[in-house]
Amino acid sequence: MGRRWLVTGCSSGLGHALATAAARAGHDVAVTARKTADLEDLAASWPGRIAAIPLELRDAASCEEAVRRAADRLGGIDVLVNNAGMGLFGAVEEVSDAELRDQLETLVVGPWRLARLVLPLMRAQGHGHIVNVSSVVGRMAFPGLAAYVAGKHALEGMSQALAVEGAPHGVRVTVIEPGMFATRYGTSMTEAHRRIPAYDVTNREMLEGARGLADNPETGRPEDFAARVLDIVTAEGPTPLRIPVGEDAYGYLGLAEEAWREEFAAARILTQSPLPPSA
Ligand SMILES: NC(=O)c1ccc[n+]([C@@H]2O[C@H](COP(=O)([O-])OP(=O)(O)OC[C@H]3O[C@@H](n4cnc5c(N)ncnc54)[C@H](OP(=O)(O)O)[C@@H]3O)[C@@H](O)[C@H]2O)c1
Repeated sequence: MGRRWLVTGCSSGLGHALATAAARAGHDVAVTARKTADLEDLAASWPGRIAAIPLELRDAASCEEAVRRAADRLGGIDVLVNNAGMGLFGAVEEVSDAELRDQLETLVVGPWRLARLVLPLMRAQGHGHIVNVSSVVGRMAFPGLAAYVAGKHALEGMSQALAVEGAPHGVRVTVIEPGMFATRYGTSMTEAHRRIPAYDVTNREMLEGARGLADNPETGRPEDFAARVLDIVTAEGPTPLRIPVGEDAYGYLGLAEEAWREEFAAARILTQSPLPPSA
């Protein structure tokens, strides 16, 4: 049976592909971005099935209006996909308070707001699914991306708590952790205003890799990401809370898991050694 989806960040990349796949599979989709002009191709390709709605995640009134319009237009919301996002590049020492707040508004506060707005609808109807698009950096870190990493870690922590809170009300939560996919992510990423050349040694290669993401032959196709997410949302029965998507995501997170185990064991040994007698 067709579901009613609200998907953020549909003007390009993963959101655009997911909205297309959902519409093709017979679902009704409210698609959002800051400039609705960039959503026109989607709405025109699926008249009556896709509704374009403007949304600025960093603006509370815009989030309220978008959820209200999506619920009116679709007659309710069954699935919220918090997909919209963008990166900020900069070392911890380079990122200002204002830049950090802006990054967290987009990656954490905005998706949290949308969850807060759809939850009353989902609780009232006794079912719903909130899908938060994180990244492998929701569970590990790369240099130069500390603010982005912090945002995705926060989104995953919020999702884990929400999964427990939502379950008695029929609200399911999924965290998607994409590997590398060919989108505008690398070119839309902003850079911290203050740059310190001393950090080139750890961060330059990461910046170059991110900027070249869309041209890298090893990155995945957004259509494949969309097909996986569609399968997850329409799956019968329970699915894991966190789901990496893309073979590279399993590679990165597999290595990270080994590193956590080693770190955990080393910390255990360190904290089990006898303490000096107290004075
Ligand atoms: N591509 C990858 O390799 C990759 C890997 C891991 C995770 N991700 C995550 O996947 C998600 C989608 O990214 P993408 O790769 O598809 O990048 P993208 O092509 O740059 O798309 C990002 C989307 O987010 C929207 N957006 C950005 N800031 C917004 C704001 N303040 N308010 C409302 N909408 C906003 C953009 O629309 P407008 O600019 O038109 O508003 C655009 O539609 C992001 O959460 C990203 O962190 C991507």
